Amino acid sequence: MSKTETRTIQPAARLAGEFTVPGDKSISHRAIMFASLAEGQSRVHGLLRGEDCMSTLKAFQQLGIEILDQADDELIIHGRGLRGLQEPNNVIDCGNSGTTMRLMSGILAAQPFFSVLTGDQYLRQRPMKRIIDPLTAMGAKISGRENATKAPLAINGGNLETMEYQSPIASAQVKSALLLAGLQINGTTTVFEPHLSRDHSERMLRSFGAEVAVFPGGARVTGPAHLRAQDVRVPGDISSAAFFLVAGLIVPNSELLIKNVGVNPTRSGVIDILRLMGGSIELTNQRELSGEPVADLLVKSSALQGIDIAGELIPRAIDEFPVISVAAAFAEGVTTIREAKELRVKETDRIAAICETLSALGGNITPLADGMRIEGRETLRGASVRSFGDHRIAMSLAVAALRADAAVSISDTACTETSFPGFWQLLEKIQG
Ligand code: S3P
Repeated sequence: MSKTETRTIQPAARLAGEFTVPGDKSISHRAIMFASLAEGQSRVHGLLRGEDCMSTLKAFQQLGIEILDQADDELIIHGRGLRGLQEPNNVIDCGNSGTTMRLMSGILAAQPFFSVLTGDQYLRQRPMKRIIDPLTAMGAKISGRENATKAPLAINGGNLETMEYQSPIASAQVKSALLLAGLQINGTTTVFEPHLSRDHSERMLRSFGAEVAVFPGGARVTGPAHLRAQDVRVPGDISSAAFFLVAGLIVPNSELLIKNVGVNPTRSGVIDILRLMGGSIELTNQRELSGEPVADLLVKSSALQGIDIAGELIPRAIDEFPVISVAAAFAEGVTTIREAKELRVKETDRIAAICETLSALGGNITPLADGMRIEGRETLRGASVRSFGDHRIAMSLAVAALRADAAVSISDTACTETSFPGFWQLLEKIQG
């Protein structure tokens, strides 16, 4: 299907069903990366087969790693150790994936060869200075477009030194890039961050045998690490489950059971926020899967109230604000989202995209420099809206459409393949 694929979503009377969502995107990227850097054969089960993770997979194949893609949801990765990567003979295309580009930069900055990373039209506009500056301070040689702030990035790797870095932003991509560089060199590299960002790298690196310490305010790694092959089981992505959590809450008479979802506390801000708004979400069957907390999520339609969201909740729900805004659009009273300036530099400027599209549907929403103010109402109206090429905007609009008073048509929806293959089919199934 073409990238401009348009979908029309009808209002839903009720939603019901029991299902799983695809594997966690952040964990899938890391499983491919760390298994490639480990020695021996790793298996990864439940991997997300979205375009973003496929960019990471292809990147490591270009770096000489043998990866067998089994027909089911399993990958077999023949890791060659920290010194086993080969210079790629072509540019590495990270597609739409910020995680691929930023984490790979940390890995490649310490490798003794030349590499070039590029991406699609959206990724080439996203800020890369946040990783280039600290990696350069470690001794990396990275050049890039617009005065070394944007991709394509050219990396002449090798000869890094450890450092202590105080990150101005709570970003797991920045933190992980530096830990991955630090992992490969002699000594201890420390990253401090203003709020705790997702900690999948720290958890998984430890299980691969790296010396990683986590403390209030940051993490440190001591290298060079000897990573040993592991089997990784990837839980369902809470960021994908979030669309169905909000759908289940806002469509009357609904009940959905989403099974096997990762509920790592650094990612579960969306559950806390929706519960604070009055949403009925129950966690059952809580357990651990490859060092990550997992649960089944039972969601029931609920009357929502507006709340103020800021502080540590922001990084814990950073990818969920498009769909949280949809919940707020149907809540009683006002919701404010503050201290979320990072939303301006995601796959698109999500503050601008959410405000334009929810306003077109009749929502009462005002952009703020670092967030949004949303006044809820009973219903939204049908209209034609666009996704801005952003998977999470497209899926959030589909959720809003379920409770509009007429059909909503959304253009440019093929981008949902980035993180959620099968989204549209699942949305249809639970209305059946
Ligand atoms: C991610 C970190 C977050 C998040 C992104 C995935 C990761 O980005 O928004 O979707 O896998 O590390 P930042 O590090 O820019 O906050």
